[in-house]
Amino acid sequence: MLDYRAIPSPCYVLELSKLQHNLAILERAQKEAGVKIVLALKGFAFWRSFEWVRASLHGCCASGVHEALLAYEEFGSRESGKEICVFSPAFKPSDIAQILPIATHIIFNSFAQYHTYRDRVFEKNQKLRKLGLSPIKIGLRVNPLYSQVQPLIYNPCAPHSRLGITPQAFKEGVARYGLEGVSGLHFHTHCEQDAPALQETLAHVSAHFGSTLAQMEWLNMGGGQHISKEGYALNILVEAVQGLRKTYPDLQDIFCEPGEAVGWQAGFLLSSVVDIVENEGQIAILDVSITNHMPDCLEMPYKPEIFKVAGDGNVFEGKQTGEFSYFLGGASCLAGDFIGPYCFDTPLQVGDQIVFKDMLHYTIVKNNTFNGIALPALGMLAHDKFTLLKSFDYTHYKGRN
Ligand SMILES: Cc1ncc(COP(=O)(O)O)c(C=O)c1O
Repeated sequence: MLDYRAIPSPCYVLELSKLQHNLAILERAQKEAGVKIVLALKGFAFWRSFEWVRASLHGCCASGVHEALLAYEEFGSRESGKEICVFSPAFKPSDIAQILPIATHIIFNSFAQYHTYRDRVFEKNQKLRKLGLSPIKIGLRVNPLYSQVQPLIYNPCAPHSRLGITPQAFKEGVARYGLEGVSGLHFHTHCEQDAPALQETLAHVSAHFGSTLAQMEWLNMGGGQHISKEGYALNILVEAVQGLRKTYPDLQDIFCEPGEAVGWQAGFLLSSVVDIVENEGQIAILDVSITNHMPDCLEMPYKPEIFKVAGDGNVFEGKQTGEFSYFLGGASCLAGDFIGPYCFDTPLQVGDQIVFKDMLHYTIVKNNTFNGIALPALGMLAHDKFTLLKSFDYTHYKGRN
């Protein structure tokens, strides 16, 4: 039985068995659908767990230099057979210099970027070929003008989106710059979605970019597929990929790059009640903050599931209704730093721990030291044994200011 009281507060805790559960599902998806899955580091960069992730997945999707470097250092290099697919809305010349030695795929977001950097990639590829190594593959991100994602902040096809080349811009880009060296297309238009949404999107990708896709060697279908969520329609993913291969027989690699599906429900954020105040109800102030440590709860927004651990170690689920109700408030000065109202069957006490479930993905990668609030420690739970992996102090706050 796990002793939550032995975990320092606050702390993000990876539950290894749950990560392994997700990885097993993703492995099955790769096998059955014939796709290569690469981990989107933007959602889950907990590299201390990569020895397990690496064994299951083909590589990483990186959003720029730092993620590419992390992939290279901690996940695996192209020399070791891992893929490092790098996309950025706009690469700077210095980014390209750092990415060329490590990327397997560089995906440009505009024809101007492709035109600016393609000669540097060609030059690098000549050297790689001389050494008998695989060249870097160039891709273009497209916007199929179709996404079901709500809210708009997460919708890459929203009006005025800067993410991906629109069909009209693509036509103009091909006419002006050609497609020399381009071997793949990329789109990312999903968020927490099931396979039918992907199938519908593929019809739009085909309608707008089908003639180009027919000349390509690879397609990257982005992230946002909730593959590890119970009930995900893997059979539809399989069907969609089979359909793609039939229509576009020259496609060799078809990639998915989930972040959330890797870290989904694979860990929690443990916090503590520091004070309880009264203002038209009881307000418990915690040592974590919605804006510092769980930003998606503000951006989506959503209300996480919780439980409390009392001083004696007993666990009580947080509920929507119940005898003892509290607003849970954060440690920052943001007036809206409220995680929400919750109820319990017993009163909350100063010193009780509050555990926020499913807090591994898109939290650690986004957290910040606003108000000088310390970053939560990082830990891992394996076989009910907790290991503290990293803690943060004043130097981390001072170092970034
Ligand atoms: C280009 C791209 N790929 C992959 C992902 C990962 O998406 P998810 O974590 O929802 O699977 C994102 C998320 O924003 C993305 O922008």
